[in-house]
Amino acid sequence: MKTTRLLATAFGAALLSAAAPAAFAQAGTKIKVGLMLPATGTFAALGTAIENGFRLHVAENGGKLAGREVEFVRVDDESDPAKATDNVNKLIKRDNVDVLIGTVHSGVAMAMARVAKDTGTILIVPNAGADAVTGPMCALNIFRSSFSNWQPGYAMGDVVAKKGHKKVVTIAWKYAAGDESVRGFKESFEKAGGTVVKELSLPFPNVEFQALLTEIAATKPDAVYTFFAGGGAVKFVKDYAAAGLKKSIPLYGAGFLTDGTLEAQGADAEGLLTTLHYADSLGTPRDNAFRLAYAKAYKLQPDVYAVQGFDAAQMLRIGLEAVKGDLSKKAEFAAAVQKAKIDSPRGTFSLSKSHNPVQDIYLRQVVGKENKIIGVASKGLADPARGCRL
Ligand code: PHB
Repeated sequence: MKTTRLLATAFGAALLSAAAPAAFAQAGTKIKVGLMLPATGTFAALGTAIENGFRLHVAENGGKLAGREVEFVRVDDESDPAKATDNVNKLIKRDNVDVLIGTVHSGVAMAMARVAKDTGTILIVPNAGADAVTGPMCALNIFRSSFSNWQPGYAMGDVVAKKGHKKVVTIAWKYAAGDESVRGFKESFEKAGGTVVKELSLPFPNVEFQALLTEIAATKPDAVYTFFAGGGAVKFVKDYAAAGLKKSIPLYGAGFLTDGTLEAQGADAEGLLTTLHYADSLGTPRDNAFRLAYAKAYKLQPDVYAVQGFDAAQMLRIGLEAVKGDLSKKAEFAAAVQKAKIDSPRGTFSLSKSHNPVQDIYLRQVVGKENKIIGVASKGLADPARGCRL
């Protein structure tokens, strides 16, 4: 009896190891992807586009990454930093996700990065630009497929200076993304001889712009630089035009101002110049294929958020393939993602040592319903990654 059981156990073990050699230890099991994105509030549409992009890449790989079927668990983070730690802990502790993908809002992303660092869970940030995530909070297991808030702002400072503007007022939401976007702008604009004469702000996600627009009119700067996104960007662009300012004081922004928003902004956005790592008219075979596949799958035009979601899935696939599906091999996963050339619709990019994209920042102009590329504002721009020790 005893011998039979022993034999049976040995036979079972032999079968198991034959079916699952060490190198493919987890190939048969599903990978649980925790999507922490906004499904409500001013950034809801951004969350949808990111998820669509991510799912498109997974679908293009037959629903699998590195041989593992992908299962999604979703949490609506409501772009609320106060709920962020609880939300991310739910995904890790209750749902046992293998990786975290999120989010849009910088304050929420910083809470996610803190938990990811403490638990060692792999985190890929598909939007939020919080400089700290690839700065002081950088870690072997934390990656970004998007940008740092500093990047589009810094690129725009040069553009505005070259236009001959000397005095600029900035206006943005008062939180990491607005503050850091303005800081990036100011750094290059003032280096080029300009002055930021006033920094206006309002709390996220408020959209009561009237008093601030009155102040801009009274200050009469040469130009305005702004960071708003999603629903807030739609309202800001419309209010700026309605206040009569569009004709008299040129408005510039980080490209989120006009990305995924043009249907709703209509003629009020026409002609606006923005800087971003994507545009609607790149015309490359890679981007054309992506746009066609996205439009077919979702009956929607893609935007920068869709691209960032798609690339987050590509980065996860690249890392997973390198470790043959075994996520416990964090150093190997990180090394593979870091040395990869990511074949993005935006153009090929790679990651810096702090795991933030090194990428071209395009100058775009709104023409009809498109952000048309009119040049490269900054080639191969890398975030300074201040405070990152890796
Ligand atoms: C951010 O909070 O980092 C953020 C949000 C929306 C954007 C860009 C950045 O479009």
